[in-house]
Amino acid sequence: MKTIYLDHGATSFPKPPAVGRRMKEYVDEIGANINRSVYGPAQQAGMVVLRLRQRLGELFGLSDPTHVILTPGNTWSLNMLLWGALRPGDHCLVSSMEHNAVMRPLQQLALCGVQFDRVPCDGQGRLDPARLEEMLRPNTRLVVMAHGSNVCGAVQDAEEIGKICAAHGVPFCLDGAQTGGHLPVDFQSMNLSALAVPGHKGLLGPQGIGALLLHPDFAAALTPWATGGTGSVSDSEFPPAYLPDRFEPGTPNLPGAYGWEAALDYLQSVTIDQARAHDRFLSQRFLDGLRGMAGAVLLGPDGVENRVGVFSLDFPGQDNAQVAFRLEEEFGILTRCGLHCAPSAHQTLGTFPRGTVRFSFGLSTNPEEVDYALEAIDAVRAG
Ligand code: ALA
Repeated sequence: MKTIYLDHGATSFPKPPAVGRRMKEYVDEIGANINRSVYGPAQQAGMVVLRLRQRLGELFGLSDPTHVILTPGNTWSLNMLLWGALRPGDHCLVSSMEHNAVMRPLQQLALCGVQFDRVPCDGQGRLDPARLEEMLRPNTRLVVMAHGSNVCGAVQDAEEIGKICAAHGVPFCLDGAQTGGHLPVDFQSMNLSALAVPGHKGLLGPQGIGALLLHPDFAAALTPWATGGTGSVSDSEFPPAYLPDRFEPGTPNLPGAYGWEAALDYLQSVTIDQARAHDRFLSQRFLDGLRGMAGAVLLGPDGVENRVGVFSLDFPGQDNAQVAFRLEEEFGILTRCGLHCAPSAHQTLGTFPRGTVRFSFGLSTNPEEVDYALEAIDAVRAG
């Protein structure tokens, strides 16, 4: 039986072939650390890291590559952001669709006196920017939210939210975990103060590397969450004042940087516009195929506007985990079931605590796989 990978929301697979090749090349042939030594291989690795920052900056509309901070992943980036920006007595607004990479740090911060509120989203997972504006308080220091839901694919109106935040002087920070690489995300038009992206999802790189892109004004007020050796300003026991060093302690994930740069090369050749068109094409096909299928209930937007190709289905009267098991056992289809580390999102959608079966598409997903998934859903649904 063939295997159909439909879990790109968790991580993209397969990667462009150059990703693994370049990682191996670094491990086998380069091996040197950066920023510490000045010999040839160290300089070569340093150039790759610089190019990676430049590519990410270009992709997301941030002109200064020194403000592209490389991190061990999106959860790390979000922790850096939340712990670095919020102090006791500060207030933070999030959407009701957040996953635990935002909610767990926020709950820990709440134990230290930080306040937060969730802007309620509608039954399709979308937030009303006017409601967000009403919920801003004089002590709101941060608005942070998932651009696209990892549960149902709903995409928030980041331009409008960014405008509101700018008008109130509140930093707006976007979690691009499900949208980076799938649709255009732009620092300028969205008035972003920060953007967190993982390397391994839509940006097609390896796991264990991500980026936090920082607006200079926001960076100036951010406290480093983790500190340590940087290979720079080594006469001081305090972190350097300048970026990226201020926020990048320790030896970075260099195999990851090599792999991610290769992935971005590939993505640049495809273009984000084509990636977006592919995602919409597959999404439309899936949505059309689902219409009229009683027993398989779609959560989230039922059109291709304001969504990415992440779909949650509920199979009423059945155990959704059992459905996911059957999809793999009988059809070779790999999905993710359960709560997707996002209890708040499932509460919003009315699927807590039973969860859903999530189908998520990527650049390597083809229309035949979508059709095959639809046939399998038709076979496992009851009713
Ligand atoms: N956040 C990832 C997911 O939704 C891991 O599966």
